[in-house]
Amino acid sequence: MRAVIFDLDGVITDTAEYHYLAWKSLAEELGLPFNKDFNEKLKGISRMESLELVLSLDQGSYSEEQKLQLAAKKNDLYKTMIAQVTPADLLPGIEKLLKELKEAGLLTALASASKNASFILDRLEVAHYFDHIVDVALIRQGKPDPEIFLTAAAKLGVAPADCVGIEDAEAGIQSILAAGMFAVGVGTPAKMQQADLIVSSTERLSLSLLQSSFIKKAL
Ligand code: G6P
Ligand code: MG
Repeated sequence: MRAVIFDLDGVITDTAEYHYLAWKSLAEELGLPFNKDFNEKLKGISRMESLELVLSLDQGSYSEEQKLQLAAKKNDLYKTMIAQVTPADLLPGIEKLLKELKEAGLLTALASASKNASFILDRLEVAHYFDHIVDVALIRQGKPDPEIFLTAAAKLGVAPADCVGIEDAEAGIQSILAAGMFAVGVGTPAKMQQADLIVSSTERLSLSLLQSSFIKKAL
C-alpha cells in the first residue's frame, strides 16, 4: 500500500447532505417527487448526469438551455451552503488519518467528481495534505468508470494495485474496483456490498486498519 485516494463528498466532509438538500429544493420547485432513496443514485455522479436523473422523474422535456439553467440553479443554492463550511465540518477521524498517512510517507490524492472540490478543501483547510487533486474537467468518463481513480494513481506515479480508494457511494466503489484498487466503503454494508472493507463511520478509519486489511486481501 503506497497511496490512498479519497472521494470528497460524504468521506472528507458531509457535503453529500448539501447536495441532497439542493437537489430536493430544485425537484420540489419542478413538482417532482424526491427522497433520500432516490438521492442515493446521484451520489458520485456529475452535476449534469444527476440533473438528467432528476428530470427522468418528469413527463415533460427540457431544452439543453433549460437544463443548463436548472443545473446552475442547483449549483448556486449548493454554493450558498458550502460557503459556510469550516474545518469543524471535517468528518471524524479524517484529519487524523491524513496526518498519519503523511507521517508514514504515503501519497494521497483526491478523486472527486465535484467542480467545487478545491473550494471545499480550502474551506476545510486540508488542501495541503493532498499530493494531487484530480482536475475533473479533464475526466471524460465519470464514476463508475475507473478513469478518475486511474488518473489519480498515474499522477501520483503509483501502480493502481498499490492504491486504496475510499468512497461513500456505490458508483465510487465500482470505480475503485474497476481501477484494480483496494476499495474502502464508508456506510452501511447493504450499499457497499462489493467493497473490500466497510466502515460504518470515518471515525473507524486509521492507517493500521487500512494496512492490515490491505495485506489480508493480498494474502
Ligand atoms: C460528487 C457528489 C455528487 C455531485 C458531483 C458533482 O461526486 O457525490 O453528488 O453531483 O460531485 O458536484 P458539483 O459540485 O460539481 O455539482
Ligand atoms: Mg461521495
